Amino acid sequence: MTRQAHAHAVPSMEDAGQLMPYSEGAETVNESLIKARPIPRISIQAFCEGNTTAEALQVAAEDRRLAKTHVSLHMGGAPAAVAHYQESPTPNLIVIESSLPRAQMLGELDKLAESCDSGTKVVIVGHVNDVILYRELLKRGVSEYLVAPVTPLQLMESISNLYNNPDSDPVGNVMAFVGAKGGVGSSTVCHNAAWTLSEVLKSNVVIADLDMAFGTTGLDFNQDPVQGIAEALGSPERLDEVLLDRLLTKCSNHLSIFAAPVVLDRDYDLSAEACTTVLDVVRQNVPFVAVDLPHTWTSWTKRILLSADEVVITAVPDLANLRNAKNIIDLLKQSRSNDGPPHLVLNMANMPKRPEISVKEFSQSLDLKPTAIIEFDVETFGQAANNGQMIEELNKKAKAVAAIHDLAMALAHRKEVRVEPKKSGMPNAFAPLLEKLKFKR
Ligand SMILES: Nc1ncnc2c1ncn2[C@@H]1O[C@H](COP(=O)(O)OP(=O)(O)OP(=O)(O)O)[C@@H](O)[C@H]1O
Ligand SMILES: [Mg+2]
Repeated sequence: MTRQAHAHAVPSMEDAGQLMPYSEGAETVNESLIKARPIPRISIQAFCEGNTTAEALQVAAEDRRLAKTHVSLHMGGAPAAVAHYQESPTPNLIVIESSLPRAQMLGELDKLAESCDSGTKVVIVGHVNDVILYRELLKRGVSEYLVAPVTPLQLMESISNLYNNPDSDPVGNVMAFVGAKGGVGSSTVCHNAAWTLSEVLKSNVVIADLDMAFGTTGLDFNQDPVQGIAEALGSPERLDEVLLDRLLTKCSNHLSIFAAPVVLDRDYDLSAEACTTVLDVVRQNVPFVAVDLPHTWTSWTKRILLSADEVVITAVPDLANLRNAKNIIDLLKQSRSNDGPPHLVLNMANMPKRPEISVKEFSQSLDLKPTAIIEFDVETFGQAANNGQMIEELNKKAKAVAAIHDLAMALAHRKEVRVEPKKSGMPNAFAPLLEKLKFKR
């Protein structure tokens, strides 16, 4: 067991003699979602007493954040754990649910300590808010004390805090961009949103262009980049901070691209495993990784979509896009039950003369409100693509700029106060008068 108890567990109500249940307070599910980060390749063994905790653990075990861990569930609480480890070596993490009275629980833990390896961490799920018990557990090196009932997200967040350092920069967020059909503007949306994130937050962002044969990241940023991503994916085990630095092309202070080779004389049969390894190295080095996925359906595109922190689906308002977007959303819902829905970007809306499904109908059919609606604007988008510029660089006043800002801020879970343009219907001459009236009231 470790002697280091996690700071998260330190109660603020110690003097009141009661521990705040971990789940209480202003924390929302969304915050937990952000705090629960992917957990490294560890083995976790749990000894539950009741079905509620076992089910929460089971749901957590199936979550994408625990995809690399090995979880085994047992019943029988603390006594079962003690008996089990008399025979078997201890894993990286033991989770024990126990409703035993204080003295008995501590007695069981003392017995457990005799067979516990020094690197093993222990998390207790208890049933009482008891400060004395809590202190005794800390003394014995228990890492975390949670009060039942626990939710899968609380479990994931606590485990993630034990294995990621919450005081240092968080592990980077992977944002996967996919088009509901080919050519709908997914790469354009990806590049512009990533650029905006890097400019507004002054945070480092890497765009990983996985469209190996036809990727446009180099063109869109007017760069003749090192075609680094193929080298990384070819031997993912070699990728470290130094090599990554060499393979990235810097576009601005905070934005780098991991560019695709864009040559056709080789085959690109990527493996899902290689993609995960490479993205993990990138995310350990930068806070935001925007993955530009090609419009193909392979084991690795699927793996990236299912394991990303955020998914952005770009769709044009027609029937085929609606069907495909629905299929992607349903798949994500099915396998990411602890995550929020993906972000929908309706692109090329209001194209002259094209019959379209209205925004209302499109979002009602998907049961998902678009995070951004970008109008068809061939002049601006065409010019930006030809110049190798982002929309905002080309024209700050372009309509799409605000929509891209909204998307970028939503991806970073930040709210930005946008200065609303003056209402055009309101004659300016009346504005001061109205201000005065408001003031008097
Ligand atoms: N809102 C828009 N209005 C007009 N043109 C747009 C708009 N959005 C994107 N485009 C243009 O559409 C074209 C296709 O865009 P892009 O390459 O980003 O699509 P994609 O979905 O990534 O395609 P692929 O399936 O090839 O990956 C580009 O020329 C781009 O400039
Ligand atoms: Mg593309």
